[in-house]
Amino acid sequence: MAEQNMAMNAATIDTATGYSAPASISDTRVRRIFSEIASQYETFNRHSSFGRDQSWLHKLIDLAPIDSTTRVLDVAGGTGEVTFTACARKRPASVMLTDCTPAMLEVAKKRIAQGDACDVPVETKVVDAQDMPFEDNSFDVVTMAYGIRNMPDRTAALNEICRVLRPGGTACILEFTTPPNPIVRLGYRGYLRWAIPAWGQHYTGKRDDFVYLAQSIKAFPPQDQFAQMLLDAGFSDVSYHNSPLGITAVHTAVK
Ligand SMILES: C[S@@+](CC[C@H](N)C(=O)[O-])C[C@H]1O[C@@H](n2cnc3c(N)ncnc32)[C@H](O)[C@@H]1O
Repeated sequence: MAEQNMAMNAATIDTATGYSAPASISDTRVRRIFSEIASQYETFNRHSSFGRDQSWLHKLIDLAPIDSTTRVLDVAGGTGEVTFTACARKRPASVMLTDCTPAMLEVAKKRIAQGDACDVPVETKVVDAQDMPFEDNSFDVVTMAYGIRNMPDRTAALNEICRVLRPGGTACILEFTTPPNPIVRLGYRGYLRWAIPAWGQHYTGKRDDFVYLAQSIKAFPPQDQFAQMLLDAGFSDVSYHNSPLGITAVHTAVK
């Protein structure tokens, strides 16, 4: 029955399992988790990825067609890792940094005050990506890193991203994925199962939040399936670029 629920591609899922479930289960959990770990989030990322998180962010921004005229929307932007990487590397015209968890955006606001936006105008806003308050065709580029995996209504989020992009605009989405090499995949699954919760306990004292993190990565669709979801949302020119071990991938898609 559970398999059947997943195959039905139900409108909302439990993001820990991929199975059909009311959206409130995942929406409530994700807001609680990121409220709890906001202040340790970046340190955890740096250490648990052995510093690889920076090169993954660079790849995302390198693939994004951003120049000094580009209006960027950063969806599920959290503490601003993507936003500030974009500002430093490409100096866009503006960035709208959004997230559903106010505590994550509070960290981002401190980073803006410290100068991490490199004089690029960055506005922060509490926004649910599954129902955004922006006009149609408002942005040239939408970025999102490690956000879609946490959303119970991924169809709604991708439709919203497509809606707020101008025609010809590009969505660039970084997410943990399935390493194509079976040996890497096995090692990575072990790392997610044992090491990630242990790192999480060490940095935040919240082991269970990181059990969820590992579960959600395992339950996220592989690269081709996610590419199809982007096509179904109305995008064209969908492609993806795996990181060297295939632990993450950047999907790009044009409206
Ligand atoms: C793993 S963090 C990624 C943050 C940032 N993009 C980065 O690369 O560091 C996931 C973020 O997604 C946000 N998020 C989850 N569901 C969301 C939703 N429905 N709408 C907006 N943000 C959401 C969480 O609050 C959290 O800040």
